[in-house]
Amino acid sequence: MLLKGKNIVITGSGRGIGKAIAIACAKEGANIGLISRTLEELNITKKEIEDLGVGVKVIAKPADITKFEEVEVAFQAFHNKLGLLNGIVANAGYSRMWSTHEFINEKFSEILNVNILGVFYTFKAAYPYMKKDDKKDKARFIITGSEAYPIAPIKLAAYVASKYAVVGLQKSMSMEYKRENINFNMVLPTQVDTRLLRGKNAGDGNKPAHVLNPWDLNEYYLFLLSDDANKLDNALIFVYDFNEAKKLLDGAPSGKKENWEVFKDYLEEKAPKDYENVKSLGKLVDFIITRSK
Ligand SMILES: NC(=O)c1ccc[n+]([C@@H]2O[C@H](COP(=O)([O-])OP(=O)(O)OC[C@H]3O[C@@H](n4cnc5c(N)ncnc54)[C@H](OP(=O)(O)O)[C@@H]3O)[C@@H](O)[C@H]2O)c1
Repeated sequence: MLLKGKNIVITGSGRGIGKAIAIACAKEGANIGLISRTLEELNITKKEIEDLGVGVKVIAKPADITKFEEVEVAFQAFHNKLGLLNGIVANAGYSRMWSTHEFINEKFSEILNVNILGVFYTFKAAYPYMKKDDKKDKARFIITGSEAYPIAPIKLAAYVASKYAVVGLQKSMSMEYKRENINFNMVLPTQVDTRLLRGKNAGDGNKPAHVLNPWDLNEYYLFLLSDDANKLDNALIFVYDFNEAKKLLDGAPSGKKENWEVFKDYLEEKAPKDYENVKSLGKLVDFIITRSK
């Protein structure tokens, strides 16, 4: 099991991408801390993990990540029940769409508060309990960014600003905590079939073909939490780029997709732009290849 005995906390794990990450990490043997505001949803995630029968611990703590005291209490509870924390996934997020001149002031602030302040509070509350003593097994802080960085779609000014901001936050923190054996990395998804994108229609089976399922992202988070990414720091994993590479991988002749070393020449020849986009993260492509076998 990839994450056996690790303690991982995921914010926004009551539904959507965070829920999929929590279940995937539990399947790999990690004990899990769950945070969001809605206890009913957290309890459903918790039950689904318990029903896997893999014997991991799972603790659900409702907290609003824009309220530091609540996040602090949640992390104290995770530490009390699980011990030191190996990985934190700051995934909770929020968005609304309006033309910028019509954007409701309170909503603009709320989006910044959840998507920026919430990431800062998550780190600040987690920091005392992160396992920072092992250079060979570094603590991980992973942020769910968005392709809104750098694409900046219209009518999403607050969301775009917040997702640009966390790129800077990550860079700053990765420099600051290098000596403390904490790695900071980010997954930047394209569109995913969740309530944030499709409201109440999320999961109805009618998503447009280009929209991913929440669980399609699991391998990026598992990679970042695994030994394979121990030395990776301040990386931005653009899901679009890896999806393109995965399409090429699916269609590649068997002799060309055994591992990154052989696949990279094929990718460079067939899709030089895709090769350029993923070549610095060949280890991740290798991870995807190994797990697909
Ligand atoms: N879906 C997409 O197309 C897409 C694309 C790129 C990036 N993303 C990013 O993916 C992340 C997860 O979003 P999702 O798509 O999975 O959306 P989602 O299904 O709406 O899930 C969002 C999660 O965040 C939690 N949350 C929101 N505000 C919170 C707060 N103040 N305190 C604590 N938890 C809070 C929600 O729970 P409660 O409401 O119960 O608190 C929920 O569990 C976000 O960072 C989002 O920006 C999504």
